[in-house]
Amino acid sequence: MKILIVFATYSSGTQTASGVVEKTLIEAGHEVKVENARESDPKSFSIFDLIIFGSPSWYIDGKDGQPHEYFGSLLKKMNGMDLKYKQYAVFGLGHSSYYSHFCGAVDVLEEGIKKLGGKIIVDSLRIDGFYFYQNANEERIRKWTKDLFTENNKMTGILSKLQHHSKS
Ligand SMILES: Cc1cc2nc3c(=O)[nH]c(=O)nc-3n(C[C@H](O)[C@H](O)[C@H](O)COP(=O)(O)O)c2cc1C
Repeated sequence: MKILIVFATYSSGTQTASGVVEKTLIEAGHEVKVENARESDPKSFSIFDLIIFGSPSWYIDGKDGQPHEYFGSLLKKMNGMDLKYKQYAVFGLGHSSYYSHFCGAVDVLEEGIKKLGGKIIVDSLRIDGFYFYQNANEERIRKWTKDLFTENNKMTGILSKLQHHSKS
C-alpha cells in the first residue's frame, strides 16, 4: 500500500511518533512517505491509498485543543476537495493532566476529514504525555499502526468496495 503520513510538531514529539508509525508500516511492507504539514499539498493525496494525519494539540486563536497551525492551513487548502473514496487515520499528542480539551486536535482533524467525505478507518489514537512515558507510548503507536491492517477494521473490505465503486 502507498501511505502518506502528514505531521506537524512544536517540540518534536509528533515527529518522533510519526517515525514510529513510518517504521512499523515499512516493516509491514508498505511504501511510506512522511511530510511536514507545512509542505503538504492536498492535491497529492490522490496517489495514496491511506493518509495519516498526526498533530499535537495546542492553544491557538484563544482556544485550547486546536491542531498545529500548519494543519489549520492544510485544512483550509483542503476546503472544497472531495475526499470520498479516500481512507484516513488520525493520531494526536496531548497532555490530559494540564489541558482540559485532551487531544482536541484529533476531533478537529476528524471533523475536517469527515466533512469532505473522507473515511476514517480506525479509532483515532490519542497519546498522553508522549515523552513522559515514551516506551509505553511507542508501543501503543506500534499496536495502533498494526491494527490499521487487521481484519477487525475491515480495511481490505472497505478498500475493495471503494475501488470497485470508483471504477464503476
Ligand atoms: C501552549 C500549549 C497548549 C497546549 N494545549 C493542549 C490542549 O489543548 N490539549 C492537549 O491535550 N494538550 C495540549 N498541549 C500539550 C501538547 O499537545 C503536548 O505537549 C504534545 O506532546 C506536544 O507535541 P509536539 O512535541 O509534537 O509539539 C499544549 C501544550 C502547550 C505548550
